[in-house]
Amino acid sequence: MNATFKEQLVQGCFHDASHLTIRWQDGRESRFDSMWLRDNCPEDRDLHSGQRYLDISDLRPDPRISGVKHVGNGVLEFAWAGELKYSRIHLQWLRGHAHFQNSDPQEQPKSVIWTGNCASQLLCKDYAEVASSDRARWQWLRAIAEYGIVFLQNVPRKDQQVEEIAQFVGLIHETNYGRIFDVRSEPNPNNLANTDRGLSLHTDNPYRDPVPGFQILHCLQASPEGGDSFFADGFAVADHLRAQHPVSFLLLATTPVRFTFQDARTHLSAERPMLQLNFRGEVAAVHYNNRSIAPLSLPPDRMRPFYLAYRELAQILRSPDFKFRIKLQSGDAVAFDNHRVLHGRAGFNAALHPRHLQGCYINRDSLFSNLRVLHRKFREALP
Ligand code: OGA
Ligand code: ZN
Repeated sequence: MNATFKEQLVQGCFHDASHLTIRWQDGRESRFDSMWLRDNCPEDRDLHSGQRYLDISDLRPDPRISGVKHVGNGVLEFAWAGELKYSRIHLQWLRGHAHFQNSDPQEQPKSVIWTGNCASQLLCKDYAEVASSDRARWQWLRAIAEYGIVFLQNVPRKDQQVEEIAQFVGLIHETNYGRIFDVRSEPNPNNLANTDRGLSLHTDNPYRDPVPGFQILHCLQASPEGGDSFFADGFAVADHLRAQHPVSFLLLATTPVRFTFQDARTHLSAERPMLQLNFRGEVAAVHYNNRSIAPLSLPPDRMRPFYLAYRELAQILRSPDFKFRIKLQSGDAVAFDNHRVLHGRAGFNAALHPRHLQGCYINRDSLFSNLRVLHRKFREALP
C-alpha cells in the first residue's frame, strides 16, 4: 500500500474475489460484497443525473474482484474477472455507504416526543427570518420533522399568504377543498370545520389516499373570544396507550377502519388502521377523526372490543396530560405533521366574534426533500 493511500481515510484494505474489506482510520471495519460494488460502479451511471443505466439482470450473479489498487486521491480501481472493465470508486463514497454494525443511518431526524406541558419547547420563528434565511428555514423544517409542529409569528395578514408560507415548506397538496382553503363559519357548510363549533382533537382527511402529509394554518382573524387551538402529539398518546393498554393498542393498530367524506361533487373513502405501524413495529402514523369515521363494519364478536379500544384512545386524547392550548393571534401560523399531531379548536360565536384561518396541505415527501437539500448545505454546522 502506498503512502498517499495511507493518508486517506483507511488503515488497510483487503480483498478476495467476493469481498472488499476496509479498516478505516477510526478502527472500524466494513465489508463490501462484490455484487454490491459491481452494481454501484460509477461508470454505469449517467454523469449528469447520477442515475443507473443497468438493470440488475445485466450483471452476472457472481461478479468477482480480480484486483484492487489505489490510483491516487482516495480513488480505488477495481478489476473484474472475465470482464474488460475497471471501475473507480472513491473511498469517501464507500465510507458514506458503509454498513456498520449497530449503525442507524439517520435518513430523517428522530422524532422528539412531547406532552402537554412541553409546549414551550416547540419552536416559534419570525416569518421574516424564515422567509429570508435558509439557515432559519433549515432549523424550522428540522423542528417540524422532530417535533411534528412549529409556529410562525408576524406573518403578513394577507389573503392567500398561506401559499407564500407553503413555498418554504413544500409542494401544496391540492384537494377538493382547493389549493388552499378557508376555515371560517359559512352557511350550509360541507364540513363542520366551517361552522363555529368546537372540533375535538383529530387529524385531517383520513379519507384520502395518501392522507395529506403536513398542514399549514394561517390565522387572518382571531376571534376575541373562543376559537383557541389545541394540539397533541399522537406518538406520545400512542406510546402511552401501548404501555397502559397493550391489547387496545394492538386492536387499533391491526383493525382497518373506513373514513369517508361526501358532498354534491365528491365521494372520498379510504380504509386504514387508526394507529399505523412501520415494519419495525413503531407507530408511523395516527389517523383519528370522529367526524369522518364511517359506521364500523366488523364481525359482531369483534365490534365491542374494538369500540372499547377506540374509546380508550379517545379518553387519553381528552385528558389534559397530552394536549396544550394556544390562541393563534392574527398573523400567527402553525405547520404540523398531519400523520402525527392531532389538532382541534374551541367553539366560538361566529355572529359576534368572527374568526378566519386559511390553510393548505403539503406533500410529505416534498418537505423532507427540502429538508435534505438544506441539510446538505448546512450539515457541517451540526453538533
Ligand atoms: C380543520 C380544523 C382548525 C381551526 O379545518 O380541519 O381543524 O382552528 N380547523 O379552526
Ligand atoms: Zn382539522
